[in-house]
Amino acid sequence: MNTPFSGKKILLGVTGSIACYKAADLASKLAQAGALVDVVLTEAATHFVSPLTFQSVTGRRAYVDADLWGSEGHVQHIALGHSANLLVIAPASANTLAKLAHGIADNLLTVSVLAASCPLVLAPAMDGGMYNHPATQANLALLEQRGALIAGPGEGHLASGLTGKGRMLEPAELMGYIRLALGRGGALSGRRVLVTAGGTQEPIDPVRAITNRSSGKQGFALAQAALDLGAQVTLVAGPADLPTPVGAQRVDVRTAAEMHQAVLAALPDCDVLLMAAAVADFRPTAPAENKIKKETGIPTIQLEKTPDILRDVAQVRQSTARPHVVVGFAAESEALLDNAERKLHEKRLDMIAANDIRAADAGFGVDTNRVILLHASGKVDNLPLISKAEVAAFILQRVVELLAGVAG
Ligand code: CTP
Repeated sequence: MNTPFSGKKILLGVTGSIACYKAADLASKLAQAGALVDVVLTEAATHFVSPLTFQSVTGRRAYVDADLWGSEGHVQHIALGHSANLLVIAPASANTLAKLAHGIADNLLTVSVLAASCPLVLAPAMDGGMYNHPATQANLALLEQRGALIAGPGEGHLASGLTGKGRMLEPAELMGYIRLALGRGGALSGRRVLVTAGGTQEPIDPVRAITNRSSGKQGFALAQAALDLGAQVTLVAGPADLPTPVGAQRVDVRTAAEMHQAVLAALPDCDVLLMAAAVADFRPTAPAENKIKKETGIPTIQLEKTPDILRDVAQVRQSTARPHVVVGFAAESEALLDNAERKLHEKRLDMIAANDIRAADAGFGVDTNRVILLHASGKVDNLPLISKAEVAAFILQRVVELLAGVAG
């Protein structure tokens, strides 16, 4: 499967820190995701880990300072920096950060960074005292101001035995930052995308709620796909046990009313709304203040309608012309296309993703989905059974086209 890492040339700089061992895992994860990973180790890094470790997991050469002075050395540093799509330094020691902040180029890695013009991701790793030192803080601020993406550090146990801020982020989390950096400059750069995901919970009493089986997976995949194209993403999520895609601003909500409020609050700035959440249509009119007890007999729960978020968005849109593009979702168990078509028009959507929840491997909880996209223009995209990530990437491609239509 094609990933945002596929075929990307990533130059991974590894500097002197005990977190070097995690850098080998990062290199392995990047290579497995399809990236072409060239590694440059500083002299200090080679005391912790050998170039061979990296060569073994990347299948490519790992460079050390001796290469700078080798027969091809005079072009090596320029070539490595120039050909990279992205530069990642993980772990980035306080010393290397200081050199980068001041343009010092005294080893293969710092020379390569100076020669490169691609985006830079820095994953600091050092003792808490070094991290908090005003010099390090000033260097990081300067590098960030120049456009570097600073990933971490995290808080926790440090090699010094102390607890504090300075731990390099875990490779899985760094992958998220690298993905974010790779997306910068994509087709949705400068665009704000609001995504809703998951189901809502409508309280019956303090311990019980009416909810649905939505896992949030499709919505979270949409948020990731928008980030992959460089969008600024707000993710309004019902209760969902899923990690936030790195770079998304997550707003957690529980009820349909909270989701309604969060969506309308974010709307004025927003270019695109992807309404993937399975919003409850009904809620208990008067949730009990205390837990309902068995002894009181079988309760009758009176329900009322929740606000229809998309209908209210349509109203706002009439006066503000924003969001430019609105996409709805229809999970149906019968008359799929008729119901989806009706919702497309009634909610004044640009596109609706319809899926038959009775189909195996599609819909709630699973990682795959089979959707039919109905456009307001009459166009239909009938997608095969694919991963939710692929569905999301396809929808975002259509969103880019719809936005271009608005502009044109
Ligand atoms: N939706 C919404 N507000 C609600 C209910 C749904 O904005 N209170 C949105 C969903 O997020 C989805 C679309 O409307 O994008 C269709 O949701 P769905 O539940 O399929 O449609 P309903 O209008 O609720 O109709 P029904 O439940 O009768 O099928």
